[in-house]
Amino acid sequence: MKIKACIFDLDGVIVDTAKYHYLAWNRLAKDLGFEFLPEHNERLKGVSRVRSLEILLEVGGLTFSDAEKEQMATLKNEWYLEFIHKMTPDEILPGVLTFLSELRNAGIKIALGSASKNAPLILQQVKITQFFDAVIDGNKVSKAKPDPEVFLNAAKELGVDPSLCVVFEDAEAGVEAALNGNMRCIGVGSPEVLNRANLVIPGFENFSLVSLDAVC
Ligand code: BG6
Ligand code: MG
Repeated sequence: MKIKACIFDLDGVIVDTAKYHYLAWNRLAKDLGFEFLPEHNERLKGVSRVRSLEILLEVGGLTFSDAEKEQMATLKNEWYLEFIHKMTPDEILPGVLTFLSELRNAGIKIALGSASKNAPLILQQVKITQFFDAVIDGNKVSKAKPDPEVFLNAAKELGVDPSLCVVFEDAEAGVEAALNGNMRCIGVGSPEVLNRANLVIPGFENFSLVSLDAVC
């Protein structure tokens, strides 16, 4: 196998934090006088905090000044952090730990490529920081997925050519970002949504290095 590095998205791939994002966004929507439905939340996957707020306000048909929006995003993040601070290693999605250990044992480098500014805290909460040779999060990038910046920075920090990297992603924009960066991509989730990925898996249970060979 020629793969030298695996780059993981965080939210929806390693942990299911989408539910906490949803609870916090819905609380804000309720304060603003409307309901933010679970199906609206799908549009926020892989999208930055500021862009997520803009989508939420679009759904509610509301407009605010930049200063007001900044306040709202801060408030939502405070509520989100209340959930994150309670997270434990039990919340790591099935099969992830086994796969990370397998990669380490095989000498394959591991990086995180996430749009979240809370990514380092979440890794800490679920106690898996030590697996990662590089962590590129929302604080370290200026261009959002589908721009490949986050994944290219990860490859650079690992010292691995992009063509030798595989990205694991649950968001359509993330799959595009990987392909735009000349990387292989394994979608984690629904084949209908992630149809541009080289392979789509429902999760990491029953997934191993051998299965990785199929796309490399
Ligand atoms: C992404 C999530 O990983 O991070 C998005 O899929 C989220 O839903 C984005 O908006 C930014 O997260 P945070 O933690 O910086 O608000
Ligand atoms: Mg994600």
